[in-house]
Amino acid sequence: MDSQTVKKTPKPSNFVKSTLHSIKIHFSSHPRFWLFIAFLWAQALIISIARTPPLCFPDRSSSPSPSLRYVPIHSNTTPAAALPEPPPALYTDDCPSGRVFSYDLPPSFHRDLVVPNCTDLDFWNWECGIISNHGYGRAASELRRTLPADLHKSWYHTNQFSLELLFHHRILKHNCRTLDPDLATAFYIPFYAGLAVGKHLWDNDTSAKDRHCKMMLTWVKSQPYWKKMNGSDHFMTISRITWDFRRLTDPGKSWGSSFLNMPSMQKVIRFIVEKYPGDDMDLSVPYPTGFHPKTTESLIQWQGFVRDYNRKKLFSFIATDDKNWGKNDLRRLMSDYCRRESSSCVAVDCGVSDCTKNSSATLIPLLESEFCLQPKGESYTSKAVFECMVAGSVPVFFVKTSYEQYEWFLPGEPDSYSVFIEEEEVRNGTVAVKEVLQRFSKEEIQRKRERVIETIPRIIYLKPNAGIKSFKDAFDIAFDGAMERIKEEKEWADFLR
Ligand SMILES: *[C@@H]1O[C@H](CO)[C@@H](O)[C@H](O)[C@H]1NC(C)=O
Ligand SMILES: *[C@@H]1O[C@H](CO)[C@@H](O)[C@H](O)[C@H]1NC(C)=O
Ligand SMILES: *[C@@H]1O[C@H](CO)[C@@H](O)[C@H](O)[C@H]1NC(C)=O
Ligand SMILES: *[C@@H]1O[C@H](CO)[C@@H](O)[C@H](O)[C@H]1NC(C)=O
Ligand SMILES: *[C@@H]1O[C@H](CO)[C@@H](O)[C@H](O)[C@H]1NC(C)=O
Repeated sequence: MDSQTVKKTPKPSNFVKSTLHSIKIHFSSHPRFWLFIAFLWAQALIISIARTPPLCFPDRSSSPSPSLRYVPIHSNTTPAAALPEPPPALYTDDCPSGRVFSYDLPPSFHRDLVVPNCTDLDFWNWECGIISNHGYGRAASELRRTLPADLHKSWYHTNQFSLELLFHHRILKHNCRTLDPDLATAFYIPFYAGLAVGKHLWDNDTSAKDRHCKMMLTWVKSQPYWKKMNGSDHFMTISRITWDFRRLTDPGKSWGSSFLNMPSMQKVIRFIVEKYPGDDMDLSVPYPTGFHPKTTESLIQWQGFVRDYNRKKLFSFIATDDKNWGKNDLRRLMSDYCRRESSSCVAVDCGVSDCTKNSSATLIPLLESEFCLQPKGESYTSKAVFECMVAGSVPVFFVKTSYEQYEWFLPGEPDSYSVFIEEEEVRNGTVAVKEVLQRFSKEEIQRKRERVIETIPRIIYLKPNAGIKSFKDAFDIAFDGAMERIKEEKEWADFLR
């Protein structure tokens, strides 16, 4: 058995001592507790006389949890001792939703898809820089010159398409991972779909966009554990937006792979950087930023740093790929507007500053501004939204659909942490962005910023082996949520059986 799956068991003598001690405490402070124990004993007596478990008890909850297995009180004396040893409990305090089994897929579905010969981010090649550091990327050591103390140590050059590696790595290291598929509640498919499909997105060859996806499904469907629930207890991670995988949903039927249209995928949960709101199996998770603290202390230090930063400008706009923008793209309008309003707005043009090599080029302007403009690009959200929030800047959105994502991660009330300005009103000149933002008082801005700062732990990916964690990061929230959902579905299926 995998050593990680074995729960630490207290020594029997200590355990009995502490149990007796806690019973004593309970007895003195809760007389009703004794009644409850008597009731349990009566139940146990009836069960051992009947020698069959009551029908309404699911098997797994009647088996003792591993931490109770060595309690000597009942052993050798009760009839149950004659039965073979029960399987370990599926649900424990450490893993309340059970354990995950990660498939040992052939490397052609993951490792081989990562380009090995460029380890640094490269503006012209989206596949570069993914391989370094399990997907976290190279350390952003240039920040040593711009950030005080040790703050730079939490920063990396993280590729926005590296989520498949990050999640795979975290799952392999997870304390709720099991190497025994029979003990698993859920099954992880470490297929790097975004990398597989991304290579062919701009080709004419439609079949190339689907090839890896089909091969992976053939492989996984041949597994006995798939057949048990037709994949509904399986999950995976996709580092590209959902529209790159829904060719058959696309009106032109031309863009992307048809991976998420394939019948076998209809029950598989996927973490994805931007979901299709009409599909319950898409669970949107934050884009990775470059901020990956290793300890709670580094996180708290960073939160204090962004809270106290002297923000000299009202707002900022960061232009990344302006070559591809149409004439009427709101991003172009905002970029020009920001330049015109240079006393209030700090503009960054990544075509001029090398934003991939120099993290200061984007981080410092975000730290220096109260708000950051987030006009919609090709899709509704982007990595930039998270970079803005990690720097403690308040995001300004222009379409309501931007709020339909990340409900597990962002605050429920949009007003509490962001500003919404109607795109149409900006375009037709009814409102000026600067005037809208100037209307917020210092206290209102501070309240929003505090909410943003509170949210930081939920939207970042820790560096693993992070020591003792007292908070859940975006991965933990996503993982726990998916496991809980799969567990509930299994219990429901058992109940109906
Ligand atoms: C990486 O290797 C491939 C194949 O050997 C080559 O085509 C590509 O140009 C290389 N990329 C870089 C950035 O060196
Ligand atoms: C894709 O097809 C179009 C029209 O069929 C053609 O003009 C274009 O050159 C093709 N592109 C590639 C990369 O093959
Ligand atoms: C899985 O799908 C097949 C074919 O659609 C169906 O016959 C079978 O009952 C399904 N099994 C479960 C457990 O849902
Ligand atoms: C990185 O960007 C910062 C802020 O724009 C700038 O001050 C610094 O000179 C840049 N460093 C390099 C090495 O280009
Ligand atoms: C501008 O757009 C808003 C929202 O669509 C609309 O209510 C308003 O009447 C428009 N104003 C002008 C002057 O066109």
